[in-house]
Amino acid sequence: MTATEAQRGDLTPTDLVYLRELIRERSAIVIDESKGYLLESRLAPVARRNGHNSLTELVARLRLDHTGPLHDLVVDAMTTNETSFFRDIHPWTVLEQTWLPELIQKRSAQRTLTFWNAACSSGQEPYSLAMLLRDRFPQIVDTWNVRIIATDLSAEMLGRSAAGRYTQLEVNRGLPAPLLVKHFKRDGQYWQINDNLRGMVEFRALNLVGQWPFIPQVDVLFMRNVLIYFDLPTKQEILNKLRGVLRPDGYLMLGTAETTLNVDERFERVAVDRATAYRPR
Ligand SMILES: C[S@@+](CC[C@H](N)C(=O)[O-])C[C@H]1O[C@@H](n2cnc3c(N)ncnc32)[C@H](O)[C@@H]1O
Repeated sequence: MTATEAQRGDLTPTDLVYLRELIRERSAIVIDESKGYLLESRLAPVARRNGHNSLTELVARLRLDHTGPLHDLVVDAMTTNETSFFRDIHPWTVLEQTWLPELIQKRSAQRTLTFWNAACSSGQEPYSLAMLLRDRFPQIVDTWNVRIIATDLSAEMLGRSAAGRYTQLEVNRGLPAPLLVKHFKRDGQYWQINDNLRGMVEFRALNLVGQWPFIPQVDVLFMRNVLIYFDLPTKQEILNKLRGVLRPDGYLMLGTAETTLNVDERFERVAVDRATAYRPR
């Protein structure tokens, strides 16, 4: 039997329930019973790295405290961090050609634009936005108060985002070659994003199911590919809360598999070409 098999076999049904509850309580991420394999494959490395010979041992250690760094590592390991530059290209095109010019016109007196990228994963999404703004709206970036706040639950992802270092495989996904050459420098086998873009993004830890203490009024809110992990009451609670930070004429961008329809009818769908956004009614 391999070490992995030994670890996989030893989780009792009570351990599985404990872990699912812990993760749900801390992050709202729902891991249904059919996804037990995910717990095992993602938590085996956490157990190993923290000196535990099995997942049972890891769970026994977790049960000793209600909270702590090990609990955070377990929750962090259960987040799915799939992302890419300019993911699902259409919303980016419409943002550049329609929604941003409209917002810029509306905000010309205040000269302020605020973006919140909730669930930024390893940073490709907020840096895509920073590139779009810097390249297409340079005078706005240089002369207005433009803020990009990027948040995530995962400390590991926030560390990766702030570092702004990407592998060849990561930059091959969605980043046009001219933008790679213009905005990144090669650093060994990595590509390092230039400081002028890195400096445009403020990265902070924020759990969407916790307090949102430092979020100002937002013009464009990216909350893409994260609501899918939550159950309906959690989605409703988050959409309700974000009405308090999104400006009445601001845009909410969700992932392509996500919608406010049948979740919160107080948003209207705005579709342009192949892109969709949502606005408070
Ligand atoms: C699939 S990624 C989406 C990344 C990016 N928004 C995109 O669409 O490419 C989901 C992200 O949601 C984060 N996440 C999961 N639960 C969260 C929570 N309760 N609060 C904040 N972020 C959370 C994960 O850490 C992960 O980085």
